[in-house]
Amino acid sequence: MDLFEYQAKELFEKHGVPSSKGRVTDNADEAKRIAEEIGKPVMVKAQVKVGGRGKAGGVKYAANADEALTHAQNILGLDIKGHVVKKLLVAEAKDIAEEYYISFLLDRTNRTYLAMCSVEGGMEIEEVAATKPDRLAKVAVDAVKGVDLAFARSIAEQGHLPAEVLDAAAVTIQKLWEVFVSEDALLVEVNPLVRTPDDQILALDGKVTLDANADFRQPGHAEFEDKDATDPLELKAKENDLNYVKLDGAVGIIGNGAGLVMSTLDVVAYAGEKHGGVKPANFLDIGGGASAEVMAAGLDVILNDEQVKSVFVNVFGGITACDAVANGIVGALQTLGDEANKPLVVRLDGNKVEEGRKILADAAHPLVTLAATMDEGADKAAELASAK
Ligand SMILES: Nc1ncnc2c1ncn2[C@@H]1O[C@H](COP(=O)(O)OP(=O)(O)OP(=O)(O)O)[C@@H](O)[C@H]1O
Ligand SMILES: [Mg+2]
Repeated sequence: MDLFEYQAKELFEKHGVPSSKGRVTDNADEAKRIAEEIGKPVMVKAQVKVGGRGKAGGVKYAANADEALTHAQNILGLDIKGHVVKKLLVAEAKDIAEEYYISFLLDRTNRTYLAMCSVEGGMEIEEVAATKPDRLAKVAVDAVKGVDLAFARSIAEQGHLPAEVLDAAAVTIQKLWEVFVSEDALLVEVNPLVRTPDDQILALDGKVTLDANADFRQPGHAEFEDKDATDPLELKAKENDLNYVKLDGAVGIIGNGAGLVMSTLDVVAYAGEKHGGVKPANFLDIGGGASAEVMAAGLDVILNDEQVKSVFVNVFGGITACDAVANGIVGALQTLGDEANKPLVVRLDGNKVEEGRKILADAAHPLVTLAATMDEGADKAAELASAK
């Protein structure tokens, strides 16, 4: 998960990385109040998850609170490379003597961590890498040894930072490494890392990518999720621990196992060509334990998708046998009651398939059609979706 700058700076503050004082808001009047509170010149900074905000007019200097208000009004709603600005960071403007670059990232190719550091900060680092590669240090970091003060100083030195600030830079860089490790980040990047006229080293920008695989041990990270940007159906699925991806078509898909669901999407798209080009509406893998609750949660998400006209449930019984899945479907339809209002085509195969089919046949739910094979089910579901 990529964080906004203001969120990255919350983590910086937690780990004692020196930065500049500031607060986030979605409101221009509040931006003015923050500037008044700070009581000094401020930077008004668009919070969007895309680079090049400054060049796009999303980062402005304000000498006083009234200027901050004007900038805030102009920047809110601005479209930066397809990202509309909804939030601003208002932060104290610092005097800058020099701008540097520092980052920690996971280097997958070399199976290690990497520190990158350069005296040439502020501009895009890709440009430095292309035009002055000798000014950009790339230093492998041993995962076990990590980065202590001495190593942090050596990183700064290899990045050609001036001798007078190496000690101060080492402190900030070492703390950024702490952010990288303790927060389970895949990237911590600061551009610019600035030198003030009195030789302080501050992180004035921050880009952090968190490793979602570590979410289980980082409960605090849940609050960083950008709920505005997430599809509401995907959000609902996530709350129910379902592996769901919204797509554009009309045939809702439920299956068990990612491989089976992927091939179900293909088969439905193929069958759909014969029925006016209908397509799958989603990916949904309910996994191994296809209980009534999981099935109900899955159906609930899919049936709430307005684009869905029919649903294809494609399950191969394994450890969870077909009879349990069939009971799950019957139970789910009972739970959902009137909310279940779209035709369901069910294909069961594998462990206890006869028992499963019998359960569905006996239940004789008016919305449910049984299909003998995957192709037949896909064709039926596509036909039902196109008929609507
Ligand atoms: N708090 C601050 N005080 C003084 N100058 C700042 C401050 N924040 C940013 N700046 C100046 O504005 C420039 C651009 O800011 P920043 O690096 O945050 O955005 P950006 O690099 O344009 O956007 P992105 O990082 O998304 O590419 C900085 O290089 C720095 O010169
Ligand atoms: Mg920057």
